[in-house]
Amino acid sequence: MDLRVRLGKLELRNPIILASGILGLSGSQLRRVGEYGFGGLTTKSYTIEARRGYDTPILAYVKCGLLNAVGLENPGYRELARVRESLKDVGIPIIVSIAGSKVDEFTTIASYVDELGFNAIELNLSCPHVEGMGLELGDDPNYVYKIVSGVSSIVSIPVYVKIGLHRDIMATVGKSLDGGAEGITAINTIRALAIDVYARKPVLSNVYGGLSGPAIHPIAVRIVYDIYREYGIPIIGVGGVSSWDDVIEFILAGASAVGVGTVIASKGLDVVREILDGIKTYMMDEGFKELSELIGYANK
Ligand SMILES: Cc1cc2nc3c(=O)[nH]c(=O)nc-3n(C[C@H](O)[C@H](O)[C@H](O)COP(=O)(O)O)c2cc1C
Repeated sequence: MDLRVRLGKLELRNPIILASGILGLSGSQLRRVGEYGFGGLTTKSYTIEARRGYDTPILAYVKCGLLNAVGLENPGYRELARVRESLKDVGIPIIVSIAGSKVDEFTTIASYVDELGFNAIELNLSCPHVEGMGLELGDDPNYVYKIVSGVSSIVSIPVYVKIGLHRDIMATVGKSLDGGAEGITAINTIRALAIDVYARKPVLSNVYGGLSGPAIHPIAVRIVYDIYREYGIPIIGVGGVSSWDDVIEFILAGASAVGVGTVIASKGLDVVREILDGIKTYMMDEGFKELSELIGYANK
């Protein structure tokens, strides 16, 4: 079975990518994660300055998912030099996620990432719980164009735009592509709220959080399907993968690669092997030799 896929200019040994922010702020941690069979890794989102993140509680399990408001905690983009050093012989593509609030913040980090020799950039324009640093940026197609064109014009590596549930998703995607993005990562967590019925107040210190896990999977599949149908571009499908069939579903909808996140918190990193084995069995049973044949199949 050939699980290799082409994600734009990147060649992946399999389509499973670690989603941003799930594990590995340090290079050594990411390096260990890389040994579990992923086709690629995405770093946590990096900002210009270090961010401490929000006070606890920052995580809450809800039915069918996980609510988080970590607050884009990260050590600041200069730390990426050390991350690169630890990952230099990891052997799989590393995508660096960038967050910011102004065009020049994105361009400063992006040119540093390019210089360091990482493989791709993911612009996080969709964080649902940090004001001025996420969803609002992606909601404004003209600002999306400014950020993406600013970054694309100065880097040589592929640029992906990570979107969420925006006001007009197709406009956000269209402007990303006009700005020079190679593809789209869909989707980020969805802004949500949980209330403690005994404390009678919101569970998270930040009040709002981002919902991930199985609850958002069908929404993510719909968005991937629509983007592929409209634009036929490279897409990283992310959202609520808990087993191999969720990955196949994303691929049939049009994703060339698939990010996994929350499932790792419940099943551990061995889930990657379990998913890859499940995909191989499916391909064997259904008579497919190359996984790439399945990309966008449900859209035909
Ligand atoms: C604890 C946590 C931290 C996250 N941090 C980031 C981040 O820094 N940047 C980003 O683009 N997405 C971040 N995400 C979103 C994930 O990358 C992913 O888009 C989302 O969780 C949906 O996938 P899942 O249902 O497989 O977890 C985070 C998600 C979680 C649960």
